[in-house]
Amino acid sequence: MTRAFEQEKRPSREELGRILLDAGSMTSDWMPTYEAVPRSAFLPDLMWPHDMESGRNSAVDKTLAPEAWQEYADSNQPIVTQWDDGAHDGPEPGKSFSSSSSMPSLVFSMLADLDVEPGQRVLEIGTGTGWNAALLAHRLGAANVVTIEVDGTVASEAQQSLDRFALPVEVVHGDGFLGYAKRAPYDRIIATCGLRKVPFAWVEQSSPGGVILVPWGTCYGPSEATARLMVAEDCRSASGPFTRPVAFMRMRSQRRPRPRHDEYVPAEALTGVEKSTTQTSEHDFSGTGAFDAAGFAMGLRVPDVAHLADRKREGKRAVWFYGLSDKSWAVVVFRDDCKEAKVYQSGPRHLWDEVEAAHRWWVEQKRPGFHRFGLTVDADGERTWLDSPDNPVPAR
Ligand SMILES: C[S@@+](CC[C@H](N)C(=O)[O-])C[C@H]1O[C@@H](n2cnc3c(N)ncnc32)[C@H](O)[C@@H]1O
Repeated sequence: MTRAFEQEKRPSREELGRILLDAGSMTSDWMPTYEAVPRSAFLPDLMWPHDMESGRNSAVDKTLAPEAWQEYADSNQPIVTQWDDGAHDGPEPGKSFSSSSSMPSLVFSMLADLDVEPGQRVLEIGTGTGWNAALLAHRLGAANVVTIEVDGTVASEAQQSLDRFALPVEVVHGDGFLGYAKRAPYDRIIATCGLRKVPFAWVEQSSPGGVILVPWGTCYGPSEATARLMVAEDCRSASGPFTRPVAFMRMRSQRRPRPRHDEYVPAEALTGVEKSTTQTSEHDFSGTGAFDAAGFAMGLRVPDVAHLADRKREGKRAVWFYGLSDKSWAVVVFRDDCKEAKVYQSGPRHLWDEVEAAHRWWVEQKRPGFHRFGLTVDADGERTWLDSPDNPVPAR
């Protein structure tokens, strides 16, 4: 339990700072803050470093293994700090993580995108451990930073850490989707949980020319990217490009449980199912990871659809699509030994036809990655675009 992953020695905190600078993850103006505000001051005694490659999480307890604990605290690994909205207890990992400290390279990349200047006022959504709020407070002064956390226990522990570290940022226990009008306007709003919909309240609570930085994705799969939205002078809209693919836990109110297969696909004979074939290649549909650009693009074109790729077995892979607004579903069965894949579709929507058309469009646009897309938010909702706000991603 004491040693999460056997690995060669990690770089020290000082070395990691240089690595982050050299890699361009951290801009040099953040170095003094990195040195002054260690992540370890904001982590709990019992924590679960997350291994990005294997996806494993193992407990490390400071009271039992102080050296290993310090090594992980100083590492460039994400660290889970709460499971199952606090319902889970003990050192074994729970079912799903509900609070964490993001990897330092991501924290500083996002701070670089946020681009803060002295005197600016910042609202953070998703306090977590309080480390990111502390970094901002060190740069801007604690009175210029306010942070919102939906979980009461997480919020009060972060408040204690910030006070103990003499950076007494106000931690608000509440739903960050509403923003925090009481202390508006903000020059910068940064979300450190993922959203599927950016609330217009954040635009209204911003200063003219302000910046909203938000991890954003669709229901299609786990792919998401940070949108960097510039707020218009009249604070009635905000618009900007996606800056980088990221992987964040979703905002609590915007989580969506995985569709239950048996609620869509009957176990008995498949009556009323339409059968066809496709020559579309499997490649762009098998990725379900957070950094899957094809999945990100498909989600922009085909709303309210979740996509799940089965593991490949004996040269055969089934890829499923579930309609979230009705019970439409589709499956494509790709086989290594056959150029044509079999398609089965059922329900009012023809989900595979929609996804195939979206894929064709994406290929025609020369397979754009995250950076070529952007997002505009106003009182009517949000719209995604390709290359420029004048070129909306076409509706299905
Ligand atoms: C990845 S953690 C944040 C990491 C944090 N910024 C840090 O420095 O440690 C995401 C946090 O967002 C919080 N969260 C989720 N939904 C929220 C909501 N609606 N409003 C505010 N916080 C929320 C979670 O409880 C969790 O603590």
